[in-house]
Amino acid sequence: MFSSLDILPSDPILGLMAEFRNDPNPNKVDLGVGVYKNEAGLTPIMAAVKTAEQHVFAGEDTKSYIGPAGMPEFNEAIKKLIFGESHPALQSNRVATVLTPGGCGALRVGAELLKRSEPKTRIWVGDPTWANHLPLLGNAGLKIEQYPYYDRATSKLTFDAMMSALEQTSEADVVLLHGCCHNPSGADLSPEQWRAVTELAEQKGFLPFIDLAYQGLSVGLAEDAYGARLMAERLPEVIVASSCSKNFGLYRERVGSLSIVGTNSSSASTAISHVNNIVRGMYSMPPSHGGAIVAEILNNSELQDSWQSELGMMRDRINDTRHLLVQKLRDAGVDRDFSFIESQHGMFSFLGISKDEITRLKTEYGIYIVGSSRTNMAGVSLANVDYVADALARVLK
Ligand code: LMR
Repeated sequence: MFSSLDILPSDPILGLMAEFRNDPNPNKVDLGVGVYKNEAGLTPIMAAVKTAEQHVFAGEDTKSYIGPAGMPEFNEAIKKLIFGESHPALQSNRVATVLTPGGCGALRVGAELLKRSEPKTRIWVGDPTWANHLPLLGNAGLKIEQYPYYDRATSKLTFDAMMSALEQTSEADVVLLHGCCHNPSGADLSPEQWRAVTELAEQKGFLPFIDLAYQGLSVGLAEDAYGARLMAERLPEVIVASSCSKNFGLYRERVGSLSIVGTNSSSASTAISHVNNIVRGMYSMPPSHGGAIVAEILNNSELQDSWQSELGMMRDRINDTRHLLVQKLRDAGVDRDFSFIESQHGMFSFLGISKDEITRLKTEYGIYIVGSSRTNMAGVSLANVDYVADALARVLK
């Protein structure tokens, strides 16, 4: 059976992670995969997560099934975190949310729902977008179209070109948007631009599918959900996929959510009945442990405060690091203007350097960035920033 298969190259992001692990260079720096790292270069378990996990262990009295939708405690709490407690769509019961295995699970189940609702639908994704969006959405059978989003040459958003491309959409189309901390560019829509895209969605009738994988890591929990909240208020239908990998640091637990905003309570419930049916046919039901941790944190004010404050520190560290790296590059004598890194948000920015320069960073200095030049700013620290800036200065000479 398997002799008909050809071996595939490893995933561009996960393969780099493995290469880094096997590199014996003592000075190596991992700026590849999107995980948060502290000043010591570690991806710690957040304090609130540790405590919540103990509560979960102590309080759990069964390992019986939880069902395709996951746990109501999680679903209700994450819905409020995403949309805000007093959001009109929540007040009118237009939002139905389920627990998914990570943001990836939410994206894939959402794509399956779209395919089932409108088999001919096209999904428009930005150029560039996170590489894994393409298989997650495309493997569900959706036709993928692209809209221009970011110009690597000028390191700027191509908003006008994006809007012109989206003018070609119709009611049968879906547009994938990054809620905040755009992966891979770090260039986000401003509130004004979110309003313009929302107006266009009103005119053209397309359905926004928002990937909110980094809520809390750009400006703040509410600010980072601006686009999702606005669209859920103004538009009849929206889908939001969220991830708890980064903002709760629960990467390997695989916790995320899928929210369907419907025209009314009954349409949201109908859509969720299909979501549950799709889940049953794919993985039957999500794992509960990570969702139980998040529910415990969000439903306990002390843990919620601790989590928010640690998340705020992580966010500040990334934003400070962006400034520090740009300063150190100047100090190292780099003429090229990297100041765009300071106005971008979240873990990533494109350095905009060549393939050859990326390879030299890896082979000569043990500095790992993704082949597109996407660089994880959270991997830069006080301990390695001089090394990284000097290496870049040498490679760019
Ligand atoms: C990334 O973009 O590096 C992360 O979201 C991890 C992944 O699964 O690709």
